[in-house]
Amino acid sequence: MSFSFGFSGDDIDNDNITESQTSAPPAAQPPASMSYSAFPVPGKPQLPATLHSLSDFLSQLPSKIAYDLLDIEATDAGASETQLRLPRRELWDVRVQLMAEDDEVANGEDRVDDGGLGKHDVKTGIYEGGFKSWESSIDLVKVLAAQDELTAAQEASSLRVIELGCGTALPSLAMFTWVMKRISRNQWHQKPLSFILADYNPSVLRLVTLPNFLLAWALENTHDPVLQNAFSIEGELELSPEIIQAFEQFLSSSGIHFSFISGAWSPEFIRCLYDLPAFSSNLPAPTTLMVGAETIYSPFALQAFTQLVFTILEREKASNARAAAYVAAKKLYFGVGGSLDDFIEAARSKGAVVSELREESEGVRRGVVHCILQDQGHQ
Ligand SMILES: C[S@@+](CC[C@H](N)C(=O)[O-])C[C@H]1O[C@@H](n2cnc3c(N)ncnc32)[C@H](O)[C@@H]1O
Repeated sequence: MSFSFGFSGDDIDNDNITESQTSAPPAAQPPASMSYSAFPVPGKPQLPATLHSLSDFLSQLPSKIAYDLLDIEATDAGASETQLRLPRRELWDVRVQLMAEDDEVANGEDRVDDGGLGKHDVKTGIYEGGFKSWESSIDLVKVLAAQDELTAAQEASSLRVIELGCGTALPSLAMFTWVMKRISRNQWHQKPLSFILADYNPSVLRLVTLPNFLLAWALENTHDPVLQNAFSIEGELELSPEIIQAFEQFLSSSGIHFSFISGAWSPEFIRCLYDLPAFSSNLPAPTTLMVGAETIYSPFALQAFTQLVFTILEREKASNARAAAYVAAKKLYFGVGGSLDDFIEAARSKGAVVSELREESEGVRRGVVHCILQDQGHQ
């Protein structure tokens, strides 16, 4: 079984959510020349879990990034913020970067490490699942706003947000934006905050996920002198070494840390995750939030995702962390199986307490659930 996430019709834009999102992505075959398929396929070798550093990704950014803005009506528990605006790097801009990197390779310059996938992904349209935003990720943003996890996390010694199958990472981007707003209003009692962004495809993390966070920071800080001339062209952020440095400085002075993990959900993934400093510190009573949108679109993905989520929930429970998973998905992925109800059933059979927090019955039926282990200390 294999999937294609074609460019046509699957992405969410500001004006419409297209019809083709009602079904699972159409089938496609990876080219025979690839040693790893561009997406996880049962029975085939899968990309090993690999940790990527922020500085490595930052050093590979081009001199400017084109973006659009997505408006989301997200009412928080205190109803103070109703409108959220999140940036997303434009796909055509990703293609431009990849073409430039192709030219560098052709001219004998260093080969860009794309995990053997990135260029194929974008250029042939074989698999672009993570390059665009899927509609359940917006449902998840709305739920996170209403749940007000950030206020609850203020009681904890540290907060770790793990987004599985993140792609454009709207849920984590929303949380990052809310934290920045709280910092600017002096409403954030600083504590270590880690965002762990995971996508099967390393190119997605490098070309879309990280740029979206940089854009979100820049758009929240347009008053910063270093960014004064950076937005002179609409829809474009011009980058300089000073801007990158200011971004890194903001993160370190705010106690915010980014990690990126590519590759398959697997025991190696768990090892990579628990090797991170965010998990090796001895701070008491941390909070761990897992979020995943449109990650259970087939029985294979459902099984790998559920296993990973429960391994993490159990480890967190054993270390007395407060932990929860928010999972957003369609009620049914037509034709291939996989559904939110299947996840709920699997989670309950593992002894989890699952609360259904949101249901969309207009258009494609979707939902968002909250999942904890018994006695996990999470309200
Ligand atoms: C349809 S995309 C959803 C992207 C994003 N969460 C959104 O809603 O816009 C599914 C994501 O799940 C990830 N994924 C699926 N199966 C996986 C597996 N076995 N191991 C690791 N990642 C996987 C892919 O990398 C992909 O980014």
